[in-house]
Amino acid sequence: MHVAPPDVSRGAKTVKDHGICAAAGLEQRLVLGLADLATPGLAADCSGPPRQQVAAPEAVVAAAAPHGVPVTLKMRTGWADQAKNAPSIALGAEAAGVQMLTVHGRTREQGYKGVAEYDTIAAVKAALRIPVVANGDIDSPEKALQVLKYTGADALMVGRAAQGRPWIFREIVHFLATGEHLAPPLVAEVKRALLAHLQDHYGLYGELTGVRSARKHIAWYVRDLPGGDVFRDHMNTLETADLQSRAVADFFEEMASHTERMPQAFSGTRTELALETME
Ligand SMILES: Cc1cc2nc3c(=O)[nH]c(=O)nc-3n(C[C@H](O)[C@H](O)[C@H](O)COP(=O)(O)O)c2cc1C
Repeated sequence: MHVAPPDVSRGAKTVKDHGICAAAGLEQRLVLGLADLATPGLAADCSGPPRQQVAAPEAVVAAAAPHGVPVTLKMRTGWADQAKNAPSIALGAEAAGVQMLTVHGRTREQGYKGVAEYDTIAAVKAALRIPVVANGDIDSPEKALQVLKYTGADALMVGRAAQGRPWIFREIVHFLATGEHLAPPLVAEVKRALLAHLQDHYGLYGELTGVRSARKHIAWYVRDLPGGDVFRDHMNTLETADLQSRAVADFFEEMASHTERMPQAFSGTRTELALETME
């Protein structure tokens, strides 16, 4: 694989001009440059001398500075279990001018297997002065509170738990502020949100690809709902945007006819398993 030298300056300007995240795909090479910081061996996968292909953190920060774009870094806890080097990489990044750091509590080798651990994130937080964001397996308001307390992190990042459940963010914010659970969303609200999501999705991908790739998003919204499995199988047979969005509307309208609110959120067996290692 040939990778051209990263054009960090152009990436930074794009971020500034359009207010978008570089990781969204506009400046892949900037992302690769940063990925190399936490991934020894990534550069070696590319042909040619690694250091000519990936940017050092100082170079990324220097290239972004004239545009007034802060550089943040996201990393894992290390390459492998025996090489959890996140704290030293993080210190290097901070010294280079990186302004915020996010740590996913798994190693690169783990992929998504096993559970996230938070000891390494706590060690990174203790070592740094810049804000640290904790990430990995945060799937409920309770887990959010526990991870914040355990790591001392300044903020949290939620990934997969928001798939089909974008209201998890307000649930977490409310719980952290009050210690109480927010009522689940209205079924009608979820219907509106998902239909709007689908329209955006078709607009972005076009009907042919959009209808197919929307199926997994719809499946996330209906998972754990009564009749969700049957609906998902039926929905997978529909080939047009009109039929797909109409089926989604019908599913949620039928649900709204006998229950006003979504069922109480999944409380998280995965959460409890992960926390056993934390106490
Ligand atoms: C569909 C998907 C896309 C992702 N894309 C990115 C990405 O572009 N950059 C990145 O740093 N992490 C990416 N991640 C990883 C997440 O940001 C996060 O670190 C990981 O999912 C663990 O958090 P979670 O347990 O809350 O999902 C992605 C994860 C998923 C599931």
